[in-house]
Amino acid sequence: MVDKDRIVSSSSLEDDLSELSLRPHFFAQYIGQSDLKNELSVYIEAAKVRQEALDHVLLYGPPGLGKTTLAMVIANEMQVKVKTTSGPAIERPGDLVALLNELEAGDVLFIDEIHRLPKIVEEVLYSAMEDFFVDIVIGQGPTAHPVHFELPPFTLIGATTRAGLLSAPLRDRFGIIAHMNYYSKEELAEIVVRSASIFDTAITPEGALKIALRSRGTPRIANRLLKRVRDFAQVAQKQVIEGKIADYSLDLLKVDNKGLDATDRQILTTMINLYSGGPVGVNTIAANIGEDMETIIDMIEPYLLQIGFIKRTPRGRVVTRAAYEHLGIKIEKK
Ligand SMILES: Nc1ncnc2c1ncn2[C@@H]1O[C@H](COP(=O)(O)OP(=O)(O)O)[C@@H](O)[C@H]1O
Ligand SMILES: [Mg+2]
Repeated sequence: MVDKDRIVSSSSLEDDLSELSLRPHFFAQYIGQSDLKNELSVYIEAAKVRQEALDHVLLYGPPGLGKTTLAMVIANEMQVKVKTTSGPAIERPGDLVALLNELEAGDVLFIDEIHRLPKIVEEVLYSAMEDFFVDIVIGQGPTAHPVHFELPPFTLIGATTRAGLLSAPLRDRFGIIAHMNYYSKEELAEIVVRSASIFDTAITPEGALKIALRSRGTPRIANRLLKRVRDFAQVAQKQVIEGKIADYSLDLLKVDNKGLDATDRQILTTMINLYSGGPVGVNTIAANIGEDMETIIDMIEPYLLQIGFIKRTPRGRVVTRAAYEHLGIKIEKK
C-alpha cells in the first residue's frame, strides 16, 4: 500500500482540504508544544519591542505536527505578511530573488521542504539570510552581468522533516532551531474537541480521547480520524460522538489502540518473521514490503521509534519486546 492511501498517513491528503479551516491562527489556539511556544513568544515580543525582524526560524519534525501552521502563527503574532513557497518550487536563483523582492521589512518568507532547495539557490540564500543582500548573474554568455540587490530585513522560516537533511552552512544561518515533538493524548484530545466544535459536531471527552489514542501523536491524523468517525456517527444516527462509536469506527478503519495500521503491523511482522526481529536494514525492510525507504524513514519509523516498538542499532533496526507484546507474538530464543 502506498503511504498516501493510509488513513494514518501523516502526509497531507486531498481529503484534508478542510485543514485550512482547522488551522489555529494565534498561539492561544495552538495546542501543545508549550516549551516551544513559550520560547518563541519571548523572541517575538523582543523583536517587536526592538522593531526588528524576528531571527530566522527552522522548524523540523515529522509531517502533520503543525510546522506550516506554526509558521503562519508566528507571522500573525509578529503582525507581518507571509509569503509561502517550497524548496522544490524554487528552481533558479532568479525565482528566489523574485520572491525576496516582494517582501517588506519584517515580513516572513516560509519555505516548506527547505531541504529540497537546489544547491545553486541555497547558496544565494546565505547572503540573503546573513546580510540581507543577494548577488546574482543575470543573462547568459557575453551579455551576462552581475547584479546586486539590497533586501529589507526579513524572517526566513524553513520547515523540514529531518534537520539532518540540511547542509551545515544553511542550518547554521538559522538563529532559532525548533524541534517539533509528537503530541500527548491529552493535547490531541483537546485538538479533536476544538476541531469538532469548528465542524459543529458534538463529542464527549471519552470520544475525543479514543480518537486521540489512535492518532500517532499527530494533529493531522487526529483531525482526519475525527472526520471519518463523524461519518460513522452520522450514518448510525448518533447525535454525539461518544467512546463506543469512536472505537467501533476506528476498529473498522483497522487503526489499533496504538495508532498502528496494516502497514505498521506488516513492517513489524516482516521484521519478526523473516529476520527474527532484527537487526535489519531499512532498505531491506522497504524492499520486503514494497514501500520506498524515504517513506519509511520519514513517515513510519519515527512513530514506531517514539512509542518504543523498534530501536535503532548500528547494525539495523530491532523490534522491541513491547512490540511483540502488542502484536501478541511470542519472542523466540535466538
Ligand atoms: N498545535 C496544533 N493545535 C491545533 N491544531 C493543529 C496543531 N498543529 C497542527 N494542527 C492541525 O493539523 C493540521 C496539520 O498541520 P500542518 O501545520 O499542516 O503540519 P505540517 O506542516 O507539520 O505537516 C493543521 O491543519 C491543523 O489543523
Ligand atoms: Mg506543512
